[in-house]
Amino acid sequence: MTRLNWGMIGGGDGSQIGPVHRISATMDGFFTLRAGALDADPEKGRAFAQQIGIAPDRAYGDWREMLAGERNRPDRVDLVTVATPNATHYEITRAFLEAGIHVLCEKPMTVTVAEAEDIAATSARTGAICAVNYGYTGYPLVRHMRAMVARGELGRIRLCVVEFSHGFHADAADAENPRMRWRYDPAQAGLSGQFADCGIHALNMASFVTGENARELSADFLSAIASRKLEDDAMVNIRMDGGTRVRLWTSSVAVGSFHGLNIRVFGEQGGLRWAQQWPDQLHWTPLNGRTQVIERGAADSADAARATRIATGHSEGMLVAFANIYADLAEAIHARREGRAPDPAACHYPTAVDGLRSIAAIRAAVDSAAQGGDWVDARPPSLRP
Ligand code: NAI
Repeated sequence: MTRLNWGMIGGGDGSQIGPVHRISATMDGFFTLRAGALDADPEKGRAFAQQIGIAPDRAYGDWREMLAGERNRPDRVDLVTVATPNATHYEITRAFLEAGIHVLCEKPMTVTVAEAEDIAATSARTGAICAVNYGYTGYPLVRHMRAMVARGELGRIRLCVVEFSHGFHADAADAENPRMRWRYDPAQAGLSGQFADCGIHALNMASFVTGENARELSADFLSAIASRKLEDDAMVNIRMDGGTRVRLWTSSVAVGSFHGLNIRVFGEQGGLRWAQQWPDQLHWTPLNGRTQVIERGAADSADAARATRIATGHSEGMLVAFANIYADLAEAIHARREGRAPDPAACHYPTAVDGLRSIAAIRAAVDSAAQGGDWVDARPPSLRP
């Protein structure tokens, strides 16, 4: 495979998610970082881009300059990752899609449902891929869970219980720390705090594994630290379009919980349990049977096999999970160029439609919580029958 040209917007020096993208996108050799507008401060962005090996003429001060510089180059970027704060995702992603450049946008894809509808429509109209970084769906055993459910091994799914709880924002004395404060400021974070930040990862994972989408939901929001304008804890009940009930808990004040992303799926014929902090073991209990541990590397599905890099017993982890999203995108881009169908096991990257479903769920959860937990339609307007 020839290497694809890759660009980044955001993810500058000291950012949280930028380094993860740089390691994950390049670890397989599918992409080379060629261009970037990496920082809110143009000078810092240019300097850091050159420091990490981007040529001076492609180390841009801001994303508009980058779009203008790249769009007519014969060797222009094939894919751009948008890893800036949430409120900027919409206009950046839209502009690159309009130029026909594929985008991997960080979550949440946009702030409003109207913007998300527009991104999904723009991607469909231009033919440029818009993926959304629900990177935890890249874990081999998460893909294997999806395969087991799709193969019918659990029978009809009754319940899916998901959790994304951490305790890093639990200290009331530190609540004004600027690194966390913005996440609860409606002007910077949007309509929702913790549900938009982490809850949508859990909801996306429930959808990914069960193959169903949210139809309606009922939410209870809590600002455990009273000065916060947005919620730092949420309990959400979701009725999925295939009949599964999803129970979702997300929190940033769960002291003692670290990156608590967990999923349990209960079907008529068995149950599955997986936790991101122990990603190499999947617990499978057939109805009336003994619990079995499926080790990463020993799962019998093409989806898990494609996502697995090294032998059973050696740990892989989050960097490889994100790399699997990039590997899928590389396969999708090459397949389009070559006019062939992509490998079916590579068609699992989350798309703009998944991003849109999340934003509609955020809107519904905010409305439901404001109405004391009333059930609210969680589907995007364009995807209602
Ligand atoms: P951060 O605040 O640590 O870093 C943001 C970076 O973007 C900084 O380098 C900043 O200078 C730069 N930036 C800001 N505005 C810019 C602009 N207009 N043009 C170019 N660069 C700009 O933020 P963090 O935590 O890295 O989050 C970034 C995004 O990634 C957010 O949307 C967040 O929700 C998402 N995220 C996703 C995760 C996942 O698991 N998928 C995990 C963590 C964050």
